[in-house]
Amino acid sequence: MAIRPILILPDAKLRQVSEPVKAVDDDVRKLMDDMVDTMHDAPGIGLAAIQIGVPRRIVVLDLAKKDEPPEVRYFVNPEIVWSSEEKSVYEEGCLSIPEYYEEVERPARIRARFLDREGQPQEIDAEGLLATALQHEIDHLNGVLFIDHISRLKRDRVIKKFIKQAKQKESERG
Ligand code: NI
Repeated sequence: MAIRPILILPDAKLRQVSEPVKAVDDDVRKLMDDMVDTMHDAPGIGLAAIQIGVPRRIVVLDLAKKDEPPEVRYFVNPEIVWSSEEKSVYEEGCLSIPEYYEEVERPARIRARFLDREGQPQEIDAEGLLATALQHEIDHLNGVLFIDHISRLKRDRVIKKFIKQAKQKESERG
């Protein structure tokens, strides 16, 4: 298990569409363990493989609060098969867009299909934070970021800020 570096906006890889996983084998489980370590270390409640530079359709979530034991969920090739008309609004953040939070409106409830850690097909009905987090992470697999769901004005502003920060870091490195 290892903590891997997280890609930060405006890294072009974050816009890549991830490829389906053909088989959930030990290599995939090893990758998922690294993702969990990286997510817990950050700390964050969700991570998609592309955020550590691996373009495969894998998501891990852990919505447990700080004082609760970890509750890791694994989603391989997750797919939303139904979403409610009803919407809900959550303030979202993203480990690839650190220290930026904005309200995002999404379907309040979804049904998703995926493979679990053992490669078994599963279906889940999600609402509340789980529904939001899962939609946020599945977006990552399609190269979509939560800032794509906010106003263009706000999005342009945050992208500009992160481009500037990346340039500063680049020049500090010399
Ligand atoms: Ni994210």
